[in-house]
Amino acid sequence: MTKFFKNLYRLLLIRTPFFILLNYITNFLPNYKSKRKSSKIEKQIYSDFKSFNFKEKWFCNNLYYLNNYFKYSNDISDILEIGSYEGRSAIFFLKTFKNSKITCVDTWSGSDEHLKQNFNIIEANFDINTKSYQDDNRLKKIKNTSNDFFSNNFKSFDLIFVDGDHSSEQVKKDINNSWKMLNNGGYLILDDYLWWYYKDLKNNPAVIINNFISENLSNISFLKIWQQVIIKKVN
Ligand SMILES: C[S@@+](CC[C@H](N)C(=O)[O-])C[C@H]1O[C@@H](n2cnc3c(N)ncnc32)[C@H](O)[C@@H]1O
Repeated sequence: MTKFFKNLYRLLLIRTPFFILLNYITNFLPNYKSKRKSSKIEKQIYSDFKSFNFKEKWFCNNLYYLNNYFKYSNDISDILEIGSYEGRSAIFFLKTFKNSKITCVDTWSGSDEHLKQNFNIIEANFDINTKSYQDDNRLKKIKNTSNDFFSNNFKSFDLIFVDGDHSSEQVKKDINNSWKMLNNGGYLILDDYLWWYYKDLKNNPAVIINNFISENLSNISFLKIWQQVIIKKVN
């Protein structure tokens, strides 16, 4: 509960619009204490997963939330992921959308919050964890910055997951580039809405995400806000 009020307080400090606050509050209760439910799903999906540090399974906190929304969707074919790390999120998407293919873009060199991590091991783990999908051509690995990827990309996607560099400047670029390449009716999922790593609150993703939502409301047909934000583009 304390975390909820802390998040609410910070969202108020950055002047989050009321409709976004209300959306967050509405999603808080159904996902309150969902860790146990998420870990049940985690056991099914990641039985033989290799990890540098098993405490860093951030994505797993969202499994119940995401699974609840997407478990009956099967119309997602082309997925793009910015920020793959060891492959947890990519594997979730491939297992959830059985007929999908995913393009994973990562520098495998980390960002501000990853200073103590060995990215040679993290990339090697990604390769081990995703080997069967890479062999089946369901997963394409691209080792590059998201900026370089977007400047050479002409392909559009049904779902784009943004979880790369979390500085507000880069989040803004990733969101805008992703929105351009997202098919109508497609989903944009933004990670770490409630991530407050930078002391100056406006340098975290939430301000950028709030602005993006407010400016694009007429092109958004569905919006779900919690730790991750799910945005559906109009058809
Ligand atoms: C939080 S991790 C991703 C976690 C992963 N999605 C998961 O759920 O397990 C962020 C990743 O973004 C990558 N990254 C950082 N800056 C990047 C950039 N400019 N372009 C692409 N990837 C970047 C890092 O190397 C890191 O692996």
